[in-house]
Amino acid sequence: MVLRVDVVEAALKAHYGADPASPTRRVIALTPGGRLLDDALASELAQESDLTLLCGRYEGFDERILEHFVTDQVSIGRYVIAGGELAAMVVSDAVLRKLPGVLGKDESAVEESFSEALEGGVEYPHYTRPAQWRGWSVPEVLLSGHHERIREWRREQSRLRSLP
Ligand SMILES: C[S@@+](CC[C@H](N)C(=O)[O-])C[C@H]1O[C@@H](n2cnc3c(N)ncnc32)[C@H](O)[C@@H]1O
Repeated sequence: MVLRVDVVEAALKAHYGADPASPTRRVIALTPGGRLLDDALASELAQESDLTLLCGRYEGFDERILEHFVTDQVSIGRYVIAGGELAAMVVSDAVLRKLPGVLGKDESAVEESFSEALEGGVEYPHYTRPAQWRGWSVPEVLLSGHHERIREWRREQSRLRSLP
């Protein structure tokens, strides 16, 4: 079973009130073989004023949908899941948390794994209270209150964790 081109056209027309061929908006089909979702793509999509996400089921989409109604194909990984709904939720979550006001503090989304702030690397380790637990200690530098040294330590940890 394949999603029909006439049915998807009718759905898009009913919702947006325009011919969906050659879309001016960003219309994304979730497909296993599409562009892999990564931090850069999430940031790119977060700049859009709106997005349309099309979810497949069964064998996927009639190719004419992908050729004429869709601007991008996006994959959440090189594996196959049963339907595009979970993939659309993953894309939505990754994009929405980059929008101003979504997180408690907007800066929280800036210095994260794969971000430009960490030069695409993975994030450094985090610790919280208690400073000692069963003999497992929080690194001394993090208790020092010395912000510059803490910043340097975090950058170094991020670099070490990101080594191939
Ligand atoms: C069972 S899959 C179809 C797989 C397709 N026949 C193939 O071999 O590439 C059904 C739908 O799930 C969604 N889907 C499955 N895996 C996905 C992935 N890794 N990323 C994004 N969407 C995925 C797509 O919308 C797809 O049309």
